[in-house]
Amino acid sequence: MQAMVIEKVQDEARQGEAFAPFAGDPNIYSKKFYIESYGCQMNFSDSEIVASILQEQGFGATRNVEDADLVLLNTCSIREKAEQTVRKRLTEFRKIKNQKPGLLIGVLGCMAERLKAKLLEEEKLVDMVVGPDAYRTLPGLIEEAETGQKAVNVLLSRDETYADISPVRLDSNGVSAFVSIMRGCNNMCSFCVVPFTRGRERSRDLQSIVAECRDLWESGFKEVTLLGQNVDSYYWVNPSGGEPITFAHLLEAVALIHPDLRVRFSTSHPKDITEAVLQTMVKYENICKYIHLPLQSGNTRILQMMNRTYTREWYMAKVDRIREVIPGCGLSSDLIAGFCSETEEEHQDTLSLMEYAGYDMSYMFFYSERPGTLAARRYPDDIPLEVKKRRLDDIIQLQNRLSLKSNLADVGKVFRVLIEGNSKKSAADWMGRSSENKVIVFPKENNNLQKGSYVNVQIVDCTQGTLIGKIQD
Ligand code: SAH
Ligand code: SF4
Ligand code: F3S
Repeated sequence: MQAMVIEKVQDEARQGEAFAPFAGDPNIYSKKFYIESYGCQMNFSDSEIVASILQEQGFGATRNVEDADLVLLNTCSIREKAEQTVRKRLTEFRKIKNQKPGLLIGVLGCMAERLKAKLLEEEKLVDMVVGPDAYRTLPGLIEEAETGQKAVNVLLSRDETYADISPVRLDSNGVSAFVSIMRGCNNMCSFCVVPFTRGRERSRDLQSIVAECRDLWESGFKEVTLLGQNVDSYYWVNPSGGEPITFAHLLEAVALIHPDLRVRFSTSHPKDITEAVLQTMVKYENICKYIHLPLQSGNTRILQMMNRTYTREWYMAKVDRIREVIPGCGLSSDLIAGFCSETEEEHQDTLSLMEYAGYDMSYMFFYSERPGTLAARRYPDDIPLEVKKRRLDDIIQLQNRLSLKSNLADVGKVFRVLIEGNSKKSAADWMGRSSENKVIVFPKENNNLQKGSYVNVQIVDCTQGTLIGKIQD
């Protein structure tokens, strides 16, 4: 199972993976678009907004790039490798365009924002460059590009949340969906490009979030994940009066839609997750007992240089409090190996804090300097690549052990599982998740269960990445 964790490390960002969607019957549309998304869930969620805007314009989604009139890449800039992957992909699309000159190619998302018009110079066959706050202008930009002009809109906005746009669910399993609750980020973690590519933080209005979640529930979805770079700083004031709405209020409002609608959220910045959020999680059974709480480094000096605004001890106290209030809560992290000037001892601090927190899972990376960030301007990227890779490997090895330990501790327990579909390995098994976000695989047996059903499963065995169970009698 080690390969699985390493595979995650190699992902261009978090759950990043290219995908080609299919939404509805493409034949009813006069034109077809093909979209691939890279990077974080926010980007995947944005692609669903883009799909909605394009559908209004008579574009249907296709999985087959050869059938498309419009090819879009929703890109990520988080690490250098993420950008390289997109550039490679663009070279491949160039070949298709050579055979089909009318084909339009557009770059969306964070790379569009970071590189702006420079992308058009560097990648001659790109027709459109559209930043994450400019998707409403896509119809006009497409028209412009159709006349042979290059079309660019990379303006960032202070208030765009796409609140009124109903996302077209792409490649959905029909069980779980992502709902954006805010955009941008006001934190200035020194390594991070997101504040530059996504702009200022802004929260979407409560009513439209609750309405979208309710619609999802009514159309058969069983789980929503509320998305933002920093969900705990959600803050919305109703212009017609009333108390300001915090993330704890929002969580409660979504949880109240139906007790069988599971609610997840991502990502929490350790400095912002409040006692009220923890208490709300306890109060509602359907709010999943799982927190993604990125640590980045376990050393206070490095954390300060990263501008994370918490210390090692402060983070440990937060973990203690979570364990106290929500016993058994799933906990995961993001970790960066080899940040500027990190010593061997400081690296050891990351390892010891990982042990302390006992993460079930982590997304692990080595530091990649991003032009324009605070760290790039202030600190030399002075840890040799081999050292960064070795430290990352230490972190991966430890996480593998921690994941196995955490799974072994679940053997014998019974979990309420939401079935997401067939197990990847065998159609004779179901795959689902526990509230704590553990992946559970178990034989189907002869009963009326289906995708989206809840079932109690007893854990009989495990690997490092998966719990193996059987349906409880
Ligand atoms: N908003 C989220 C994270 C967004 S980026 C949060 O604050 O937790 C996802 C992860 O990518 C980060 O948590 C960090 O671990 C990693 N990351 C970001 N910039 C990076 C860089 N320059 N080099 C390596 N990893 C980076
Ligand atoms: Fe980047 Fe930090 Fe904002 Fe996360 S909280 S998106 S790491 S600046
Ligand atoms: Fe990447 Fe942008 Fe997300 S840089 S991680 S796609 S916010």
